[in-house]
Amino acid sequence: MSNSESTIHASHGLDGDTSKLEKYYADWASRYDDDVRREEYGGPRAIASMAVMVADSFLGRAPKAIRVLDAGCGTGLAGLELKRKGFEAIDGFDLSQEMCDIANDTGVYRELAANVDLNVDQAPVFARGYDLIVCCGVFTLGHVEPDGLKRLASYLSDGGYLIVSTRKSYFEGTDFDSATARIEAEGVLERVATLKNAAYIAEEGAHYWIYRKGSKPN
Ligand SMILES: C[S@@+](CC[C@H](N)C(=O)[O-])C[C@H]1O[C@@H](n2cnc3c(N)ncnc32)[C@H](O)[C@@H]1O
Repeated sequence: MSNSESTIHASHGLDGDTSKLEKYYADWASRYDDDVRREEYGGPRAIASMAVMVADSFLGRAPKAIRVLDAGCGTGLAGLELKRKGFEAIDGFDLSQEMCDIANDTGVYRELAANVDLNVDQAPVFARGYDLIVCCGVFTLGHVEPDGLKRLASYLSDGGYLIVSTRKSYFEGTDFDSATARIEAEGVLERVATLKNAAYIAEEGAHYWIYRKGSKPN
C-alpha cells in the first residue's frame, strides 16, 4: 500500500471523534491535495458534474444563478470543480480550520466557516436556504454518521437539492440504508436519484445520492 493510501485509510479509523478528526486534518492539510491526487481521487469532479445535472434537470436554472454550499469543503477541490462548471455563488464549511484555510486560498468561495461538526447539533453558521448542497468525501468511515444528513437538510431551502457521496465501504459498514429510509419516512428528504458505484478513487467506487428537501420541518 502506498503512503498516500495508508494516510487515507488511517483517517477512516477516527471513530467520528471530533478532536481526533481535527488533529488528523490539521496535520494532513498541507499534503492532502497531493495525496488524494496520487490516489486518483475523482469525487469532486464527479459531484460537480452531478451538480450541473441537478441545475439543468431539476432546478432549471443556470449554475451561476444557484446558491451552493460545499459541506465538508476540505481544501476546496469540489469548489474548484464547481467553479469550472459555471457555479459562482459557492460557500463552504468544514470541521477543520487548516483545511478551510487552504480552501480560502483557492478564491472560489464567497464565505467559509470552520469548526462545523456534522455529528452534533449546532447553531447554523450561514443563513439557511441553499438551492444545492454538495458533500463529497465526508460520509466516510470514521467521519460523519448518516444522521448528519438531517443537519445538512437544515441548510436547504424547501425544494433544494443535496448530493452526497458515500464510499462503498462506508455504505456497507454503516446503517446508511436504514438511517436514510427513516429520514425519508420523516419527510425531511426525498431521494430523487442514485448513481451506484460511480468514479471516486482508485481503490473503490462510491455511491452518489441525490435528495430533494421535503416540506416537513427538521
Ligand atoms: C476526505 S476529506 C474531503 C474534503 C473535500 N470535500 C474533498 O472532496 O476533497 C473529508 C473532510 O471532512 C471533514 N470532516 C471530517 N469530519 C467532519 C465532521 N464531523 N463534520 C464536518 N466535517 C468533517 C474533514 O475536515 C475533511 O476536510
